[in-house]
Amino acid sequence: MSKPYERYLQEILIDSDRVQARVAELGRQISADYANVRPVLLICVLKGGVMFLTDLMRHLDFPHSVDFMAIASYGSGVRETSGRVRIDMDLKQDIAGKHVIIVEDIVDSGHTLQYILNILATRDPASVKICTLLSKPSRRQVHIDLDYVGFEIPDKFVFGYGLDLDEYYRNLPFIGVCRPDVQVEEA
Ligand code: IMP
Ligand code: MG
Repeated sequence: MSKPYERYLQEILIDSDRVQARVAELGRQISADYANVRPVLLICVLKGGVMFLTDLMRHLDFPHSVDFMAIASYGSGVRETSGRVRIDMDLKQDIAGKHVIIVEDIVDSGHTLQYILNILATRDPASVKICTLLSKPSRRQVHIDLDYVGFEIPDKFVFGYGLDLDEYYRNLPFIGVCRPDVQVEEA
């Protein structure tokens, strides 16, 4: 019997082994860069960044705390970012004096991250770097300096490994390309 997600899946873009290998590599790189940096706070952008965060953390060998932030975009369809975004859930921690690493699932137009960066800049962090699992450079509308990028991918709508298809399938261990012609009515 076929799996429920298969009717939405055009192809597997990055399989689970490649994802895990790259996450481990990023973890080693960040651990080397932050070996003597304190205090460090990882800020996970909900909900898409959760799976990446929890896997990445296991490869970090320096002390760090974690906090979460949710951003909502509005005024557009579910598969496009309009550029209008707002805070849906703010951080619990004060970030003043902390070395912040933002953990994101994907940078598309760049509007979401630009908005987050602007907010964080008003709160006096010691430094801010960005770690994103995926980036679609061809879609960028605002320039964002990305410090750590897992994979650069083409302009295709992807799901799995934290990224949703209309809120479903974040649990899949791979990154899949969605068929362009399907509507997700129900999972
Ligand atoms: P941006 O503001 O255009 O950079 O969009 C960032 C957000 O849009 C990401 O954090 C995702 O939540 C969502 N997004 C962009 N592209 C995709 C995709 O291909 N699949 C799933 N979500 C996406
Ligand atoms: Mg996101």
